[in-house]
Amino acid sequence: MKTEQIVRTFVEYFEERGHRRITGSTLLPPADDPVLFTTSGMHPLTPHLEGRPHPLGRRLVNVQRCLRTTDLDEVGDATHLTVFEMLGTWSLGDYEGPVSLDWGYGLLTEGLGIDPGLLHATVHGGDDRTGPDTASLEFWQDRGVPVEPTVHDNWWSNGPTGPCGPDSEIFLWSGDTPPPPRATPTGDDRWVEVWNHVMMRHRRLADGSLVPLLQRNIDTGLGLERLASLLQGRSSVFDCDVFAPWRRLVPPLWPLEERSLRVVCDHLRSAVVVLGDGVRPANTGRGYVLRRLVRRVLTLLWRDDPTRCLGDLPPELIGHTLDRFGQDMEPYDVHRMLLEEERRFRRLLERGRRVLARPRFRGSLGEEDFRYLHDTHGLPRDLVTGLLHG
Ligand code: SER
Repeated sequence: MKTEQIVRTFVEYFEERGHRRITGSTLLPPADDPVLFTTSGMHPLTPHLEGRPHPLGRRLVNVQRCLRTTDLDEVGDATHLTVFEMLGTWSLGDYEGPVSLDWGYGLLTEGLGIDPGLLHATVHGGDDRTGPDTASLEFWQDRGVPVEPTVHDNWWSNGPTGPCGPDSEIFLWSGDTPPPPRATPTGDDRWVEVWNHVMMRHRRLADGSLVPLLQRNIDTGLGLERLASLLQGRSSVFDCDVFAPWRRLVPPLWPLEERSLRVVCDHLRSAVVVLGDGVRPANTGRGYVLRRLVRRVLTLLWRDDPTRCLGDLPPELIGHTLDRFGQDMEPYDVHRMLLEEERRFRRLLERGRRVLARPRFRGSLGEEDFRYLHDTHGLPRDLVTGLLHG
């Protein structure tokens, strides 16, 4: 099943159950939001989870692109991407957890044809602040789906303060052989988390205490590329249909070992989406995240061959990505900005090498050296460290 078909099936399934589709699009959160990028589908809905009525009602569904800088170091494994798409559903003070889990289970097994024997769930087992989530536990037991209670892994919050709550996560088996009877999600990473159902009923205050939200909400998020890769019988998100053109066009251009290839494809694709959402390379904030993505790509490419150039990136890959995310930008402009960023990085590296060759920088560098290199020569610490150890 192609990714597009999964999205359609998901949205229609929830529309048939009274949900209205909202436009989940840009990676940029509203101006007064302290985070750099939208990290989950619930993020733009925060005021409505806190009680403000939503113009489209109490049941919502969407597809939201997300970027999690906290996952950057994991990219290259089988399941993490920098920019990914999240299918989401919400009950804003309407139905409760077991209804959401029932629809989730129904969509996975009947709508998408997944063998129920390949599912595992986890639920919140309770701690000193909240009791165990017995409603979710009983739901899974009734369905005959194995369920594991945990504490920290089954509590979801978007940040140190704000809406949060216990969650029940649905895992899909990714192994080549059937799941062993006692393998659980916390003990066997062949169980891949695909869908998180959060019972968003609390607000965490700055002192860490919890107060009830005005309404009892449900917030669910399903990782599209993860589910697509498993439904397509692939062992990693980089092998689902979304990455097919990258897999076809990048290796002949830049032969790389598998992990580097994944990082290069992920970071370039993410950089295109970030540029498409209007971010430009900079030394701070969102622009710096973008800059680091491009620099990491170049560092990997140049490790084997310093003549490699982003100018060779097939425009088809840029166009394919902009289309996928419905972004209104010319591939040529994205190409040009990537190339400008590459030139800037080359110049910076040349300057860095020249400066670091000075006798003063022989031996190990102290804080003052790093500050001087940054303030006087514009050389960021990570770049200096890379040049010294690269
Ligand atoms: N907010 C939850 C998550 O991101 C569910 O949408 O996993």
